[in-house]
Parts: sequence; C-alpha cells; structure tokens
Amino acid sequence: MSEQSPQQDNPNITWQISNIPRQERWQLLGLSGMTIWLTGLSGSGKSTIAFALENDLISQRRAVCVLDGDNLRYGINEDLGFSASDRKENNRRTAEISLLMANAGLIVVVPQISPFRMSREHAREIHTKAGIPFYEIFVDTPIEVCESRDPKGLYKQARKGLIKGFTGIDDPYEAPENPDLIIRSEQGQLSNHVKELLKLIEGS
Ligand code: ADX
Repeated sequence: MSEQSPQQDNPNITWQISNIPRQERWQLLGLSGMTIWLTGLSGSGKSTIAFALENDLISQRRAVCVLDGDNLRYGINEDLGFSASDRKENNRRTAEISLLMANAGLIVVVPQISPFRMSREHAREIHTKAGIPFYEIFVDTPIEVCESRDPKGLYKQARKGLIKGFTGIDDPYEAPENPDLIIRSEQGQLSNHVKELLKLIEGS
C-alpha cells in the first residue's frame, strides 16, 4: 500500500520522511503492521478477546501491542472523563497512537468502547490514508449479557445512578453499520473468536 504524507493546515510544519520506505522496513524486520479496533459495550469481552489474541500472536512470535481503553486512561488519557467530547478525544488520541505503532510494524489491538461511529470512521480514515490496514471488529454482546457479567460492578452503580452517563444505560452506543467482523462473545468459544481474528490478520 502507498505511503503518503498526512495533511496539516499549518504551513510551517513539514512531514519528515523515513530514509527507509515502510515496506522495506517491515520486510527487513519481519513485521507487518495493522490496527485491529474492537468496539463494544463495557463488559462485552473486548479486553478478554484482545489479550487472548495477544497470547496467540506472541506464541507465533508476532510483534503485537494491546492498547486497552482502561489502561490508556491511567496515563496518556488520564485527563479525560466520559463526556462525549472526552470520549471523542480519547478515541482520537488512541487512533493516532495506534497509527504510529502500526506504522512501526506492530499489530495493534485496540479494545475501546468507542461509542461514536464518527470516531471509529476517523480512525479508519487516517489508517487508510496512510496505507495501513485497519479492521473494525464489533464485539456484539447484548447489554443484558454485559450487565449480568458486570465484571467491575459498574452497571450496578450506573443503575443506582451512582455513575452518570454510562454507555448503554444513559449514554449512547452507536453500533457499527459495516464492521469487518462481528464477534458474538456469548456464543462460541473464545479460542474460536481468536481464530477468526487470526484469519483476518493472515489475510491482510
Ligand atoms: S470510551 O467510551 O472513551 O471509548 P474506554 O474504552 O476508554 O471508553 O473506557 C471504558 C471503560 O471505562 C469501561 O470498560 C469501564 O470500565 C470504565 N468506565 C467508567 N465510567 C464509564 C462510563 N461512564 N461509561 C462507560 N465506561 C465507563
């Protein structure tokens, strides 16, 4: 895929180009970068799937990094809450980080609620423009199932009104219209869901 310079409005900033074209870098290092973006409700199984995929990729000696939504909020996104604009900024920063890491040659796996279609489309757009594969995976777990799992006890708190603006309860989740893959975490085994993702990765 072609390697293009991104657009910038500020004329005083110039995109700096690596001396080694991406494909050559990847080939020399035995890498093949891409972003696998897992979207879905809290408790849908995104992180479980992402870290199981990480296991399999590492056992194949593939370079992988999981950018978990919760984990990013400990550091780079610690200044962000859960308002619509903070979530958009959270997802925007994550999309940019995943692009940088995928460009370096990593398989970047992003479990993040990312409730807004536009944010996910933006993530896809910047990867597509850069010529880097991007896959949107919908972890389509019904809210009743997520709520019954409630691994962090957050649904319970949201129902009591102790957490305001909880995704799926009193905050929106815009389901993907055209995802590259749908995973129904409550149906079938985790190992099979991982296999489906591995197939997608192999085919890219
Ligand atoms: S996103 O909406 O901005 O993409 P992100 O994936 O980073 O969300 O973080 C979601 C995690 O934050 C959830 O798994 C849950 O543990 C926690 N969380 C805390 N408050 C909320 C909330 N109001 N809505 C959704 N998740 C929340």
